[in-house]
Amino acid sequence: MTKRMPVVAANWKMNGSRALVDQILRQVKQSGVCQDIEVVISPPATLYSYFDQQRKNDSLEHVFLAAQNINELDSGALTGEISVGLAKESGCQWVICGHSERRSLFNESSKVTAQKFMKALNAGLKPILCVGETTEEHEQGKTFSSLTAQIEAVLHLGGKQAFKDCLIAYEPIWAVGTGKAAPPEMAQEVHRFIRGMIGSICPETAASVRILYGGSVKPENAAALFSQPDIDGGLIGGASLVPEQFIKICQSA
Ligand code: G3P
Repeated sequence: MTKRMPVVAANWKMNGSRALVDQILRQVKQSGVCQDIEVVISPPATLYSYFDQQRKNDSLEHVFLAAQNINELDSGALTGEISVGLAKESGCQWVICGHSERRSLFNESSKVTAQKFMKALNAGLKPILCVGETTEEHEQGKTFSSLTAQIEAVLHLGGKQAFKDCLIAYEPIWAVGTGKAAPPEMAQEVHRFIRGMIGSICPETAASVRILYGGSVKPENAAALFSQPDIDGGLIGGASLVPEQFIKICQSA
């Protein structure tokens, strides 16, 4: 059976500072957590280059840097946007695609998410595909159909090879920022479904694709979530802004 390396990723959203970059890198280094797991940090775009420089200064090249978003086009008159080339030049190795806040607040469809996913992949960056159901879908028992549509959009554009070198983050929208994480067994059921779906598309990838859980992960619930057989780590929002909490979460993976 394939042993999957756990991943704990921090999504700072529109938060953070150079001081927080310094603190997080210091604590990651002191704790030694990145010897056993992959640690990925996704600060706001203005911090990409600083993060990249500091991790090199600290000999922490194996702490990975993720862009929070890219535009699906290569360049153009798109004020405020960042292309995959710019993200790459700033040191990013991973790209978060289709976070629920991009989908809901910026009206990004699954099709646009798939375009960003493929843009990242084709540039040699690893996409982190976020999928998740709304509260309404959850209550109406439409979780699996919602996730299927989000994953199929990538399949449609990229074909089955698209899933070979990506991460999938399952983030139920009702759990994001609410303090109410999905119960571990419920999250496991969804992760197993996603793995099964990837297996039906691309059998050779099912055992190796890493699927992260996101949504109110805290030091108190991380171990129970990460011990589920199909949960390979987490995508952490609020708790990733507090270095001590983030390190504890990493230690639970
Ligand atoms: O991408 C991470 C995220 O949306 C979860 O946020 O604050 O619930 O951990 P949070």
